[in-house]
Amino acid sequence: MSFLLDLLIFAVAWTHVLIAPYTKVEESFNLHAIHDLLLHGSRPEGLQKFDHKVFFGAVPRSFVGSIALAWLSNYVARLANDLSLLTSKFDLQIVIRLTLASINALGLCFLRHAVARRFGRLTSLLFTLITVSQFHIPFWMGRTLPNMLALPFVNFALYLFLDSGSRAARMSTTRLSWAIALMTFAAVVIRVEIAPLLGLFAIQLFADGSLSVTRLVKVLRFLCATYHMVFMHAGRIALTVSIDSFFWDHWPLWPEFSSVYFNVYEGKSADWGVSPFWTYFATFLPRLLMATEVFIPFGFASNAHIRSLVESAVGFLFLMSFLGHKEWRFVVYVVPILNIASAQGAQTFIRQRKKTLFSRLKFLVVVGALVLNASATVLLTRASIANYPGGHALSRLNERYAETPHVHVHIANLAAQSGASLFLQTHAPPYASRLGILPPAISATHPWIYNKTENLPPVDIAYNSLFTHAIAESRDALPAGRWEVVDVIDGFGGWKVRKDVLRLVNKKGLEGLLRIIEMKKENKLWIFEKRVV
Ligand SMILES: *[C@@H]1O[C@H](CO)[C@@H](O)[C@H](O)[C@H]1NC(C)=O
Repeated sequence: MSFLLDLLIFAVAWTHVLIAPYTKVEESFNLHAIHDLLLHGSRPEGLQKFDHKVFFGAVPRSFVGSIALAWLSNYVARLANDLSLLTSKFDLQIVIRLTLASINALGLCFLRHAVARRFGRLTSLLFTLITVSQFHIPFWMGRTLPNMLALPFVNFALYLFLDSGSRAARMSTTRLSWAIALMTFAAVVIRVEIAPLLGLFAIQLFADGSLSVTRLVKVLRFLCATYHMVFMHAGRIALTVSIDSFFWDHWPLWPEFSSVYFNVYEGKSADWGVSPFWTYFATFLPRLLMATEVFIPFGFASNAHIRSLVESAVGFLFLMSFLGHKEWRFVVYVVPILNIASAQGAQTFIRQRKKTLFSRLKFLVVVGALVLNASATVLLTRASIANYPGGHALSRLNERYAETPHVHVHIANLAAQSGASLFLQTHAPPYASRLGILPPAISATHPWIYNKTENLPPVDIAYNSLFTHAIAESRDALPAGRWEVVDVIDGFGGWKVRKDVLRLVNKKGLEGLLRIIEMKKENKLWIFEKRVV
């Protein structure tokens, strides 16, 4: 039973990777860093070709998470190669994403075990069902956002905080120390917003007596000892400062410090758009947690431990609300915490000795909430899959012209941002020959050029003798005399609710019900080929 629940978490994580393999611009910094590490290597000649040297972002990000994921993915890729599963660079992207999805799934499985031990098997079952029925974590846990690299650290730490066997037993100092060490590392190196979350956990631990001043001294001593052992007198900050200074070629550079300086101290986060103060509570939380959010108050009322968890989560959301710019991913760490509270709340609904009409109704409410979650997730996932026109466009181009030498394709901004990652440049170097990823026949001698030059005026594409193909954002981007549209890529264009429900059900039976909500498609990208004149 327990094993099946873990398997379910992994299966859901992998399914989301496989049904939506393409990636968006938010994921590209880490994804491209891993691409460059695996395919160019970190020697100086390779370093010059790194994507971040060509396309700068607003603030520097840390390479440390990418290095760790690249290192792990390398082993998985070798295994996949031994099983002859790798055929193109694009398969490597899937390997990287499956690796990350597995790490995050493992974090959730550990958490689930802790929940089972502390709150019982029924709560752990409900925690699993709630988690996999939601959209955001399952869909994103295999996507290389810095937040998704930080999430497993938070989940492992939370596991250590929670899993102290019987309810009465006090957490051992070693566990406590490891939990704090993991979160400190994640805060300093990967995502600085983990710091306030750790602070709130620490306050809770002080409040319930798990942490005292003498224990804190022990924990700090442990941190210092580990820091000596792992980084040999270099220290955690030095680790990220020196690695990132090396990759960014700028000394000294501590990305998460720059991020606080830039976003909080200089208030630049507002440049990305400001949301009202209560946005996290009013908008993002219901979207992240969906229908099962309604059980949180019942969990809160039933158990003191749940109360302290919920208080930390709510405190964190409150603190993060002071930053003008808000995104769901900045606060995604509270989702597992609040799901534990929901699961405990739903458990009180289900666990009832007497089978009365009222208790049966309560059971139905829990099942109904899970079904609502899952239905909304199916719709959101379908819409999201259709939201990567750039990935689809580049795949089609690669396939269609597989036998054509010397293709030089211009890739429009929308395509570059919606899936056209470096891993889809399957007809151009670099190749990972040691992993058996070789150039397709013709492009070995006549490699393609995938040109992502931004803000190029249409005339410069149309009358530039360099380009042979283009992926453009409108049908009349290029003059019809010289260029021919060979393919059109559709994308998500909204939902349509069918009014003729009765007719549908009459014609298709129960299947008709599934078609009531229909996805509208819109033309998003046009693939052009230059005419031979
Ligand atoms: C990409 O296009 C731009 C603009 O035409 C051109 O200057 C650049 O040389 C091209 N890149 C490659 C690698 O040919």
